[in-house]
Amino acid sequence: MNNYGVFGNPIAHSKSPLIHRLFAEQTTQHISYEPLLAALDGFPAAVQEFFRTGSGANVTVPFKEQAFALADQLSERAQRAKAVNTLKKLSDGSLLGDNTDGAGLVNDLLNNQVQLAGKNILILGAGGAVRGVLEPLLAQHPAEVGIVNRTVEKAEQLAREFTDLGPMTACGYDWIDAPVDIIINGTSASLSGDLPPLAATLIKPGHTVCYDMMYSKDTTVFNQWAQQQGAARTLDGLGMLVEQAAEAFYIWTGLRPDPAPVLQQLRAQLE
Ligand code: ATR
Repeated sequence: MNNYGVFGNPIAHSKSPLIHRLFAEQTTQHISYEPLLAALDGFPAAVQEFFRTGSGANVTVPFKEQAFALADQLSERAQRAKAVNTLKKLSDGSLLGDNTDGAGLVNDLLNNQVQLAGKNILILGAGGAVRGVLEPLLAQHPAEVGIVNRTVEKAEQLAREFTDLGPMTACGYDWIDAPVDIIINGTSASLSGDLPPLAATLIKPGHTVCYDMMYSKDTTVFNQWAQQQGAARTLDGLGMLVEQAAEAFYIWTGLRPDPAPVLQQLRAQLE
């Protein structure tokens, strides 16, 4: 039996064990997948200990940057993200670091028939969560990705770093009001129930699709705002969570589970 798990602190409420157990059931794999609590100053030691027998692990807050630093090899998207959410032990015993967050976001959008090619996309926020998804988003060939952030320098820095992959711009919230096709909220504002200072005109009623990378039982503050402005659709990050897990499961096992029934079960549980 192969052992997997998810590192984090805290980790008790992680949905990853349930998601991966459902994937394993679906694909008739005999695996174990456990929450792995690491001390805040003990992540490298915990990883070393786990991989004496472990085959792969997910990594969540606050260890993604440390996982990036300790991986022996990195995928292109992990290098760009400067963060790792998936570790895999290779046959020579070394650790491969990958990042499936962006693929999770892109796959969830595509599952929901939101095409990205040729679209004007606005991303709110310029922290780790946004950095993690830019490479896979740009690989879909959008017309433009604009990054808007409270601290404009951070948006400018990200735009500079990723501009070789596609057309990017950066700005502050009070500089933009022209309607866009897709708005993705990657700020941590939702966590505290806050809303970035957005112009209502960014939304073209009946056309603009809004995606909140956060999820909650009730509609997020950002998605409530989007609905009030007449957004064509609003989606939250629960689908991204399941899809990033499916991508990790594929990296470990070579099998692609069907995320749809797992998402349905999680949504029902949340409600
Ligand atoms: P994460 O790893 O979740 O991305 P982070 O790196 O701390 O966390 O980044 C949080 C992001 O949310 C930042 O872009 C932050 O804006 P600043 O860079 O200006 O701090 C953004 N953010 C947090 N609270 C916000 C709020 N109330 N309004 C607008 N942006 C907010």
